[in-house]
Amino acid sequence: MSHILRLDKNECPYSIPSYMKDDVDRALLSVEPNRYPDPTYGELRQVLGDYVDFPASSIVPGNGGDEILWMIFAAWIKPGDTVLTLNPSFSQYEHMCKVFNARHLPVPMVFDETVFKVSVDEAAFIGAIKEASPSLILLDSPNNPSGTVLSDDFINSVVENSSCPVIVDEAYGEFASRRYLDRFTTETLPERVSVLKTMSKAWGIAGLRVGCLVTSEKVSRLLNDLRSPFNVNVYSEAVALTLLKNRSWLEERIKTIVSTREKFRESLAEMSQWKVLPSEGNFLLVDSPIPGDELISTLRDRHVEVKRFNLPWEGEWIRITVGTDDEMNRLLSVMEKL
Ligand SMILES: Cc1ncc(COP(=O)(O)O)c(C=O)c1O
Repeated sequence: MSHILRLDKNECPYSIPSYMKDDVDRALLSVEPNRYPDPTYGELRQVLGDYVDFPASSIVPGNGGDEILWMIFAAWIKPGDTVLTLNPSFSQYEHMCKVFNARHLPVPMVFDETVFKVSVDEAAFIGAIKEASPSLILLDSPNNPSGTVLSDDFINSVVENSSCPVIVDEAYGEFASRRYLDRFTTETLPERVSVLKTMSKAWGIAGLRVGCLVTSEKVSRLLNDLRSPFNVNVYSEAVALTLLKNRSWLEERIKTIVSTREKFRESLAEMSQWKVLPSEGNFLLVDSPIPGDELISTLRDRHVEVKRFNLPWEGEWIRITVGTDDEMNRLLSVMEKL
């Protein structure tokens, strides 16, 4: 039986590069699991900071980006508060609002069928800020699942027109042509703006759960005080440190995934009934000619997992994670026969 194609969770199809495995093994062997991690995560914060060109004092380490979201809600959200996001956006935003009894206000993005592109309704978003006075704004860029990168002008205007924390979630930033964070240093990043990063996507260690928030020193102090003291375990920390210190391979990996994404997109665009949105993430949003639920179960019968979405626009939308070239060719041959 062929192995299952797991193209439903935006994971990286590649694990740790083989030439890094000896280093990683050595790092794991030197871990003393009977000891707690360093609760300040001094070294981890330093190398995460080096990666994004920020000082360690601006970094909050997390057990994946998901835990960073927990900290953000714990720090700033009381029951009944309003959290503003895009619609669609990362499903955990909605989940966190439920957990913290917050009012989730998702502002629909606009789908232009003539050019087959999704964009932000900037006027509606700014209008929603003015009307709802949110306590928190979460913006994923690239947006999950549309793959749209938000413009700097839009994010700046959100910051100018609001008075609450604004989180720019760049979990997929490595795959994009531009990143909001790149424009800033620790001196210039506005105090209310923080950027979420993760090692689950381009770095390919989703199972180890390492992410971080890049933020002002003030917010960093607040969240580092609030987080549980040993939130990243010693094995995950050791692997993350090894990869972060030897990251020359990362660029090549990103190029490979982006090139696979574009090849797959072009092939799919040639199949007339399938419509595929441009994407700057490691996934593609596709309007299927087959009803979504039926497609999911048909693909499952053929050992392929993709994710179905109910979106604010008409269509049978599924999100397909970009795997290896071979995996995407296997999927294409399945799709051609549907
Ligand atoms: C937009 C976005 N942000 C954050 C995350 C959290 O990733 P993790 O908890 O694996 O770091 C995800 C995961 O899919 C995501 O899609």
